[in-house]
Amino acid sequence: MSLWTQARRAARLNPSIIREILKVTEQPGVLSMAGGLPSPDSFPVDAIRAACDKVLRDVPREALQYAASEGFGPLREWVAQQLARQGMTAGADQVLITTGSQQGLDLVGKVLIDAGAPVAVETPTYLGALQAFNPFEPIYVSLEGDADGPLPAALEVLPHDAPGTRFAYLLPNFQNPTGRIMPRERRAALVRVAQTAAIPIVEDNPYGDLWFDEPPPRPITAAWPEGCVYLGSFSKVLSPGLRLGYLVAPRELYPKLLQAKQASDLHTSGFNQRVVYEVVHDGFLDRHVPTIRARYRAQRDAMAEALRRHMPEGTAWRAPRGGMFFWLQLPPGFDATGLLPRAVEAGVAFVPGAAFYAHAPDPRTLRLSFVTLSTSDIADGVAALGRVLHQELERQAEIAP
Ligand SMILES: Cc1ncc(COP(=O)(O)O)c(C=O)c1O
Repeated sequence: MSLWTQARRAARLNPSIIREILKVTEQPGVLSMAGGLPSPDSFPVDAIRAACDKVLRDVPREALQYAASEGFGPLREWVAQQLARQGMTAGADQVLITTGSQQGLDLVGKVLIDAGAPVAVETPTYLGALQAFNPFEPIYVSLEGDADGPLPAALEVLPHDAPGTRFAYLLPNFQNPTGRIMPRERRAALVRVAQTAAIPIVEDNPYGDLWFDEPPPRPITAAWPEGCVYLGSFSKVLSPGLRLGYLVAPRELYPKLLQAKQASDLHTSGFNQRVVYEVVHDGFLDRHVPTIRARYRAQRDAMAEALRRHMPEGTAWRAPRGGMFFWLQLPPGFDATGLLPRAVEAGVAFVPGAAFYAHAPDPRTLRLSFVTLSTSDIADGVAALGRVLHQELERQAEIAP
């Protein structure tokens, strides 16, 4: 018997399947489309270096001291102003700076989920959110969806099927993993149903700025501020290593989220917050983010072209209009998890889609990131994947009676 008796929730803390896969796939010689990392070429190293110097020169002791749990005041103001550009009305007092938006998910789980309480999620959904919520022992309700996001009708039945649903976790922009975006009408319909059914919404939006053709519609939270918690992040527009995100909460809920944060880490790095404020306060992102969009758009185009050339008939995908991912459904009979070792052997890696489902995974799905490989490596990687899939088709044909 072990000396250590672990809490029940410890059994629900599992290694991220993606991180486990990355260990296998990030070997030399493997073209990995498995990671969910932004391109390191997009990190504004010079601007961050200059901001670090300035903070250490001008306010070194303040920056290196403990700081307020709510976050650095000017940064909170800046976030509120940015969100106002998207039609959100929150005041700076409703902004909580978090240690990545991943911490926002943890805080939301801590404050809103009791063991056995229903939580509605998209099908599929962000794996990291399932990981964040799991220790609080929710019962997931998987919302049926289509190319435009979850179906409003799926939310409508929840008061009967899953009474007391604590919230619906929604990713309207270039969703991880599917890359899909919810059109304006879908957002409006979901809000209408959520209001009627009294189901709050947690809106997670780390990819909204990474659009290729046109900016996404207004956030869901803009239409129902008192019923939504909004999560944002600096990871995809500046750098994930800074671990900086934010949440915006209704005034009714904010104090509890703040207390949960205090208990968890006292505050997010004050130094990093000042550095980021220094970088962004004069409109830097309005100049910088278009360069990321242009880079990712070219990579998206390269992957779209390579998929058209190399995927076997019966493979389905849609070119994403922003974000970082393609989502593929392989022809009937395929199992993406089973194929991964063979793909890695052939020098290419992806994430099997099964990990992104709260229930009933579709084994034919997989996620490809297009942002960390060059356009020529994307072409080579997709070609290699195509060869593996064609070999599998031949194998299936041989064993068919
Ligand atoms: C949908 C979604 N939410 C949240 C996060 C967490 O981001 P961070 O904690 O870096 O802000 C990610 C990271 O990939 C994500 O894809």
